[in-house]
Amino acid sequence: MASKSILTGIKPTGQVHIGNYAGMIRPTLDIMASNPDGENFLFVANYHALNSIGNAEEVRQFTHEIAACFLALGLDLSHTNFYRQSDVPEVFELTQVLSSVTPKGLMNRAHAYKAAVDANAEKPNAQPDDGVNMGLYTYPILMSADILLFDGGIVPVGKDQIQHVEFARDIAGYFNRRYDTEFFTLPEHSVQENLEAIVGLDGRKMSKSYGNTIPLFGDPKKRRKAINKIVTDSREPHEPKDPDTNTVYQLYAALAEPAEVAHLRARFEEGGMGYGDAKRILADKLDEMFEGPKARFEEYMADRGELEAMMAKASKGAKEKAAAKIEAMRGIVGT
Ligand code: TRP
Repeated sequence: MASKSILTGIKPTGQVHIGNYAGMIRPTLDIMASNPDGENFLFVANYHALNSIGNAEEVRQFTHEIAACFLALGLDLSHTNFYRQSDVPEVFELTQVLSSVTPKGLMNRAHAYKAAVDANAEKPNAQPDDGVNMGLYTYPILMSADILLFDGGIVPVGKDQIQHVEFARDIAGYFNRRYDTEFFTLPEHSVQENLEAIVGLDGRKMSKSYGNTIPLFGDPKKRRKAINKIVTDSREPHEPKDPDTNTVYQLYAALAEPAEVAHLRARFEEGGMGYGDAKRILADKLDEMFEGPKARFEEYMADRGELEAMMAKASKGAKEKAAAKIEAMRGIVGT
């Protein structure tokens, strides 16, 4: 795997929370750091966000937050092409060409589209496609263009995105067969197997839509307060407890080092670890992990001009590669 290129994108649709960190940001930084010989591509999928966000200020804000976040957490720009999707307009030219080889039926099978249609079927007076814009419908083609433009070989994604990477593979195949070429690399997804969705403050999956998130770079005092409000059972400190049904432990397990996690687990199981103490351990851990990055994040966010300049510089390599690939593609398709 060493010399394959790794490519992934993140949609700027909300304030970054620790669920995004544990589920996407940290694994992405790790896998890219472990690929020093290959090429890495990481981008902010701001056009994907337009399907659900119609407010320019929000799109800009969330885009900057994600960029500042990766930079603050130590993204290595010397080994990664880091860019904003809209800074590489070749993506959209490729989207059009890929649309011409993609059967409509493939889009009908996309999970996100099917889920919207199924939800409408439950409503008394709804048409099947109510609330579905064409951006949502053709989302997998844009995502395929993101990947194929750079011959992304390995695409780290969450489980919900596996189908999209398979579509990208199918679409690359349609193109390659139509033009009798091997022009596009067939991508493979990579999912972190042992990664369960991180729980939120209320024990359900951490998600913006449940309002149970912990912001990644939020105020440490507020974070501690929120952690103190996590609902636990009424077992006394000396009683043994099941870590796996316990939100405080589960959050700690998703973030702390394996040895620290094993230690807390043992103390819960043996008895002698009260929930109050565990909450303090969790809050202390988050303070320790994010204090430095939070300060850097705030510096980036305070100087948007400088942040833009860094992004412009970081995206240069990707822009050059995209231009070359599209020129070659035009030769193949005759445009
Ligand atoms: N669809 C991905 C998500 O929702 C984001 C994304 C857009 C992406 N383009 C991509 C991920 C290309 C990997 C590769 O999270």
